[in-house]
Amino acid sequence: MNVLILGSGGREHALAWKIAQSDVLSNLYVLPGNAGTATFATNLEADLMDFQAVKQLVLRYAIDLVVVGSEQPLVAGIANFFSEDSDLQQVAIIAPSRQAAQLEGSKEFAKQFMARHGIPTAAYRSFTRATLPAAHAFLESMQPPYVLKADGLAAGKGVVISETLAAAKQALDGMFDGKFGAAGSTVVIEAFLRGIELSVFVLTDGKSYQILPEAKDYKRIGEGDTGLNTGGMGAVSPVPFADAEFMQKVETRIIKPTVLALAEEKLPYTGFIFFGLMNVGGEPFVIEYNVRMGDPETEAVMPRIESDFLDLLWATARGELASREVKIDPRTATTVVLVSKGYPEFYEKGKKIYNLEPKSSAIVFHAGTKSAKNAILTAGGRVLAVTGMGNSVSEALAQAYETAREIEFEGKYFRKDIAFDL
Ligand code: AMP
Ligand code: GLY
Repeated sequence: MNVLILGSGGREHALAWKIAQSDVLSNLYVLPGNAGTATFATNLEADLMDFQAVKQLVLRYAIDLVVVGSEQPLVAGIANFFSEDSDLQQVAIIAPSRQAAQLEGSKEFAKQFMARHGIPTAAYRSFTRATLPAAHAFLESMQPPYVLKADGLAAGKGVVISETLAAAKQALDGMFDGKFGAAGSTVVIEAFLRGIELSVFVLTDGKSYQILPEAKDYKRIGEGDTGLNTGGMGAVSPVPFADAEFMQKVETRIIKPTVLALAEEKLPYTGFIFFGLMNVGGEPFVIEYNVRMGDPETEAVMPRIESDFLDLLWATARGELASREVKIDPRTATTVVLVSKGYPEFYEKGKKIYNLEPKSSAIVFHAGTKSAKNAILTAGGRVLAVTGMGNSVSEALAQAYETAREIEFEGKYFRKDIAFDL
């Protein structure tokens, strides 16, 4: 089977790394990929948001299956583009329909969907500029902290949590004034959930589903979960508090009703559902849906999947997922992300990376890297994601951190406290 993965981050390197181990793989391509994927797959060049260009590559390389890494092409409707194009109808694509991708593309859509189906989430109301006075009044009726969410995709920056009423009103006005562009023309205001977060992933063919290993990510730049939000600074899987009892609640109250509701509402879904959850005193609530895998969670999740992942994806695309099982490695995986100095704000690129070959069996996934003559250079804020495996969190961390320290590039920074809270 010929496979094309769309994306260039650590998530896509981890997906490619896992798919490359499959018995049913013939050729693996990544668009655009990075210096890591280039070592074992073929990187292609095109703008992945240009679906016509993607189509030409799919036809030229006789691709059988496309795996979409990030949300932008999903929300823009790449699944519909494939199903509506007569040349592409035979090509399998792991991607929910544009309509279903609204679960991530619109916070208001997701909240209404959950409300319709009794899926536990924070109480909310949504507002537009025309209902600004009502939005202020709603904020006044709530207790701090205040949670405001720009409705549309805002590259992970659309959520503002304010400690005071004045700050919340100011943030709200900023959203309506276009701080997040069109994404902020509708704003969801919701109750603050106090608890501990985790990410639960499923693969679904729209009828049945398979639960993949869960993970916890570390979003803030600073140790002790301080400072600015990032794309993710580390991850751990499994998550100790996600025990059998908790996961049973997640499955019966959240996963099953979500997959059923998608079918009931005729929202075609072939792909990953990422449930961003809050464990509030042992009870799971949905903070958000994403319609793709998480990054860096994927870098901790893929090494724990023992099954042939390409076979699972193929079964998903063919609507045969119910006949498969996911075998999971019981060991712990921890991922430490190495970032460029200054990230998530301004940072420099083009720094030479040294010691990329780990001495241990840690896995080094590339995120923002590119190949140059005889060198690999930094090419993004998140540069590398190093995953260690072990029989305990501390064993896995020891492996990841040993390699994280060995790798060198100017301005390298990583959090030293990944998974220390567990
Ligand atoms: P999101 O972009 O929806 O993932 O939100 C970003 C982060 O804001 C989440 O990962 C949570 O840490 C936090 N957050 C979002 N909604 C809530 C909520 N209702 N209560 C508490 N924290 C929240
Ligand atoms: N790590 C969170 C995300 O991928 O959205």
